[in-house]
Amino acid sequence: MGNLADINEVLYHTGLSAAIIEKAEYAILPGDPGRVEVLAKAFGEAKFIASHREYTSWLTHINGKAILVCSTGMGGPSVSIGMEEFARIGIKKFIRVGTTGSIQENIKLGEVIINNAAVRLDGASRHYAPIEFPAVASLELTNALVAAAREVDVPYHVGISVSSDTFWPGQERYDSFTGYVPRALQGSLKEWQALGACNYEMETATLFVVAQSMGLAAASICGVVAKRTQSEHVASSDIYQLASERFISVVKRALLNMTKEGK
Ligand code: URA
Repeated sequence: MGNLADINEVLYHTGLSAAIIEKAEYAILPGDPGRVEVLAKAFGEAKFIASHREYTSWLTHINGKAILVCSTGMGGPSVSIGMEEFARIGIKKFIRVGTTGSIQENIKLGEVIINNAAVRLDGASRHYAPIEFPAVASLELTNALVAAAREVDVPYHVGISVSSDTFWPGQERYDSFTGYVPRALQGSLKEWQALGACNYEMETATLFVVAQSMGLAAASICGVVAKRTQSEHVASSDIYQLASERFISVVKRALLNMTKEGK
């Protein structure tokens, strides 16, 4: 299925090949290259395998199966470039992990959100499918994350993300250099809130649409580091620490369950 690379072909942007990733089929995708090592080591013994541009890669194993942990950088374009190369070296299941700002009063700092769909406020996904096409998660991977969150007793929410190409105007933040949000985006936070969306982040819509277009599976789990019903600001590093410990424990349990079942 699809245009797979030869096993030893090293791809241009990520510096990875199917051989280097030991034919891994799962990829865990944080945005931040600085989070990759910690994540990979949290899953088990891990080794550094490559670092090109925003794509820092480590490899680990769970139940004997290779798991790639690779950063995507911020925003849809670099997610799409990474996914093209991950798919060509045999990745079939993508799980994004990252941070997010909640827009519903009942979603607290440090909790996690598992997104089952996303508003396509990005540009990259439009290059893969027309805007009418939904950005939807894999039901199987999403169910695995939900079951894992229950098992490890992490407070979680399931719902729609608003995936924006920009951190400031697209997420209706006014604490920018100009303080200006274009008219089309003024009031947008309240609208997404009224429609029941849970959160803002910058990668999930692209991830879901690109994976769907490839016939591959994707899911997304984020820790809440900003509570937009109270403030435009991102919370302290303690909150990030709590949120990341939580999403790491959920993803680890989900991988343990799925690889055990041979999925
Ligand atoms: N990431 C985002 O894109 N927005 C936030 O508010 C927090 C993290």
